[in-house]
Amino acid sequence: MTDKVDQYYDVALSLVKTCGNLISEHINGCKSFVLKSCDIDLVTEIDKKVEDTLVGGLSKAFPDHKFIGEESVADGTKCELTDSPTWIIDPVDGTMNFVHGFPHSSISVGLTINKEPVVGIIYNPILGQMFTAKKGQGAFLNETQIHVSQVKEFATALVTFEAGTSRDPERFKAVMENYKILVSKGHGVRTLGSAALNMAMVALGGADAYFEFGIHAWDVAAGTVLVREAGGVVIDPAGGPFDILSRRILSASTMELAEEISKNIVQFYPERD
Ligand code: IPD
Repeated sequence: MTDKVDQYYDVALSLVKTCGNLISEHINGCKSFVLKSCDIDLVTEIDKKVEDTLVGGLSKAFPDHKFIGEESVADGTKCELTDSPTWIIDPVDGTMNFVHGFPHSSISVGLTINKEPVVGIIYNPILGQMFTAKKGQGAFLNETQIHVSQVKEFATALVTFEAGTSRDPERFKAVMENYKILVSKGHGVRTLGSAALNMAMVALGGADAYFEFGIHAWDVAAGTVLVREAGGVVIDPAGGPFDILSRRILSASTMELAEEISKNIVQFYPERD
């Protein structure tokens, strides 16, 4: 199995590197975009090109593999996770950043086998940050092994958090409440505008936790492998096992920290993927 996963990873990594050029070559200047679910959920021509290149290349190499891609799902493809090897792809995670030229966008590619995340690649080509992980083989930034921090207490945690890409009033209420809780109880809050890069920061030990309600499988599939392989935990924000299609995630450097954050935050339950 490891040999096969290594082979899947090698092909994906090479495609991700190639697609990175599409993002870095177009980062400067105004990008035209169209709206998806609402006025802050954007897609550009580059999102579509990257997804087409990744899906095209991976399906040519592995014809029996399945795909869950952000833009294909937006265009009506069913979001279905089976036991087959499934590539879960966000072609540009942080599309809003990309549109504005804020240099925190990434290609996020995860692979699940038997529904379990086993490969994670998160690439920010603008800053040259390639985060990679394979189950059981550690997590890396540009080939140097990375580890989560050892922070166990909310009071000393730097937490990454997002307002998200929907203006749903109920979710917004939870976001605002949680922002207040984070600011008043933790060390600080950071918002990178890319779920995948927030998780990469937890894996790197630069942030101690990240949670969000309303994300999709493609935002967090790769990050899940990365955080776990860096020694951290990924759970449901209310405690209990992480469910990749639940649109809820809490990742942290330690289980102690995850549990304390979980007890303190306001919960929100979006419709499943
Ligand atoms: C979004 C980003 C953002 C997060 C949203 C995601 P996209 O992904 O990861 O940080 O808050 O929930 O949808 O739309 O830029 O691919």
